[in-house]
Amino acid sequence: MQDGHHVVGLDNFNDYYDPALKYARVRWVQEQTGEFPLVHADLADTEAMAALFTREQPEVVIHLAAQAGVRYSLDNPRAYLDSNLSGFLNILECCRHHPVKHLLYASSSSVYGANQHTPYSIHDGVNHPLSLYAATKKANELMAHSYSYLFGIPCTGLRFFTVYGPWGRPDMSPIRFAQAIVEGRPLKLFNYGQHQRDFTYIDDIVESIARLLDRPPLLAADWDREHPDPSTSMAPWKLYNIGGEHPVELKDYLALMEKHLGCKAQVELLPLQPGDVLNTFADVHELEDDTGFHPRIELDEGLRRFVAWFRDYYVLPVIPTSLTGQSLRLDELLPVRRRL
Ligand SMILES: NC(=O)c1ccc[n+]([C@@H]2O[C@H](COP(=O)([O-])OP(=O)(O)OC[C@H]3O[C@@H](n4cnc5c(N)ncnc54)[C@H](O)[C@@H]3O)[C@@H](O)[C@H]2O)c1
Repeated sequence: MQDGHHVVGLDNFNDYYDPALKYARVRWVQEQTGEFPLVHADLADTEAMAALFTREQPEVVIHLAAQAGVRYSLDNPRAYLDSNLSGFLNILECCRHHPVKHLLYASSSSVYGANQHTPYSIHDGVNHPLSLYAATKKANELMAHSYSYLFGIPCTGLRFFTVYGPWGRPDMSPIRFAQAIVEGRPLKLFNYGQHQRDFTYIDDIVESIARLLDRPPLLAADWDREHPDPSTSMAPWKLYNIGGEHPVELKDYLALMEKHLGCKAQVELLPLQPGDVLNTFADVHELEDDTGFHPRIELDEGLRRFVAWFRDYYVLPVIPTSLTGQSLRLDELLPVRRRL
C-alpha cells in the first residue's frame, strides 16, 4: 500500500488461534495506511471468491491465507484439505478466469521434509513430506505448475522459513516461549532443544514479496526436459526460498529470548515430535540474484523487536534493568507493574 498499490485483503478470521489478534492486525494496518478494504470470506467458498475477483479484477494476487501449523495437521487433517487444497484451487480458477499478471503464493520450508541435504536448495527434489501440512504446500506448487502451463498464469511459490516477529502466530515458538517465560511456566523444548531453525524476520519476508511483485516468472527457455530442474519450468512458474540463511539451535534462540525478556526460562526437554523436521537452512541465492535482496535482520535484533511488540500487545510491564537476568514469575511481575 505504501508503494501506491490498491490492496484488498481477504480472511475468514477462523479461530485456529484467537481471532482478536487477527482483527488487531487489521486495525494496525488501517492505522498505518488510513484504509484497508477487507473481505470476510472463506477461500473454499467458490461463489464468494468468484464474486471478489469479478468485482476487483486484481492485477496481482498474493496468496498467504492457509491452514498453517505442522502439529495441528495430525489431528485436524480436513482443515488442510479445505483451505489449502480446495481454497487454493479456487484461487487458481479465479486467476484463470480473471487473468492476473502474477500470482505469488506461500509455500513452506516444510516441503523439504525428510531431505537433510543442507542448505535446502530449490533445485533439490522435495518428495518426502513429513506432515499433511507439508504435503498440501507441495501440492500447491504442483497445482500452480499445471495452471501455469495450461493457462499461462505466471506463478511464484515462496518457501518461507520459520517466520517470526511482531504480530506473529501464537501457536509458534516466539509467543509460546515468551508467554511461558514471563508466567514462570515450564516450556517444552522438543528434540532436547537440538534442532535448528532458519528464522526469518517478517520484514524480510515482506520486502522479498514487494521486490518479486513486478517480476512475474518467464518460462525458462533453457529448461531441459531430459534433466528437469524442479525450481523452474517451460511454463511461467518459479520457486524461491525465503529464509534467514543462519540456522540457530533452539536452545541458543531461547537464550536470546531470555536476554530480551530479562527472565530465565524453565525448560522441559522432550524428544522430537512426529511431523517435525530436524533442521532447516535456506539457500536463498536465487532470490538475491533476481532481486538483489536477501534477508538481513539478525535473530538478536528481530527478537528485540518481537519482545518490544510482545510487551506492548500483551500489556506487560517493562521490567526494571535491576531485575534483568533474574528469573521472574508472573505473580512477581504484578507488584513490579503496580510499582511502575
Ligand atoms: N509463519 C511461518 O513461519 C510460515 C512458514 C512457512 C510458510 N508459511 C505460510 O505463510 C502463510 C502465512 O502464514 P502465517 O504464519 O501468517 O499464518 P496465519 O495463520 O497467521 O495467517 C493465515 C491467515 O489465513 C486465514 N485463513 C486460513 N484459512 C482460510 C480460509 N479458508 N479462507 C480465508 N482465510 C483463511 C487465517 O484466518 C489467517 O489469518 C501461510 O500460507 C503459511 O502456510 C508460514
